[in-house]
Amino acid sequence: MNLEESSPEKNKKINIAIDGYSSCGKGTLAKQLAQHLGYIFIDSGSMYRAVTLFILDQEIDPQDEAAVEARLSDIDIRFDLNGDSGRFEVVLNGVSVESRIRDLRVSSQVSYIAKISAVRRKLVEIQQKIGFNKGVVMDGRDIGTVVYPNAELKIFMTASSEVRADRRYAELKQAGQNVTWQEIYDNLVSRDSIDSNREDSPLTMASDYRVLDNSNLSREEQFALAMTWVSAALNEIG
Ligand code: DC
Repeated sequence: MNLEESSPEKNKKINIAIDGYSSCGKGTLAKQLAQHLGYIFIDSGSMYRAVTLFILDQEIDPQDEAAVEARLSDIDIRFDLNGDSGRFEVVLNGVSVESRIRDLRVSSQVSYIAKISAVRRKLVEIQQKIGFNKGVVMDGRDIGTVVYPNAELKIFMTASSEVRADRRYAELKQAGQNVTWQEIYDNLVSRDSIDSNREDSPLTMASDYRVLDNSNLSREEQFALAMTWVSAALNEIG
């Protein structure tokens, strides 16, 4: 399916931007909202991860901006609907890479790739096309500031670093990965710092965001809160 044609009615559909720190449950909330509203969920971080995977597989140094930029035209990123999960999954040069982009090899390098303006320009263009007809919930770092500055609802998610490391550690352990809690924690803190301090499109909370700190909220509670914001945003567009 072509994502650009996949939102049938324009009426009463909004775009929802969810930004925030690493591993604070943006994807979980985005998925819940998309499922409930019948919208498309796009994990924009998976696109930066797919580019990182390509660069690492080519044995290019992710911090060598010129070398990365020189290979960008060899990278095709798109999303395909996975019939089993009902989710759009990231496809790199024709191959689904969902199962390869979450390990520490990619996580530890992805912030360097995400700093490169040419990479951001390429991915933002794809993200904007996907949201053209509305009905998209997209999570990332710059969705409400750069990708969809006119999104009808912008949510900024956060939680304490320890809570986030606990959650990510449990996830990776369950997926059978051999990692320590400290490695996860250090990676989160380092990514947050690079993502917030980079020159191009840093993670920042503008005043038009609704803030959701979920350190002490259950999934159900955060979903209920976000749905009140969705209803308000839908009411506003009439
Ligand atoms: O959400 P995530 O942890 O999968 O994101 C991976 C990396 O990509 C993270 O270091 C921040 C970066 N990123 C970004 O710069 N802009 C986005 N819209 C999404 C992710």
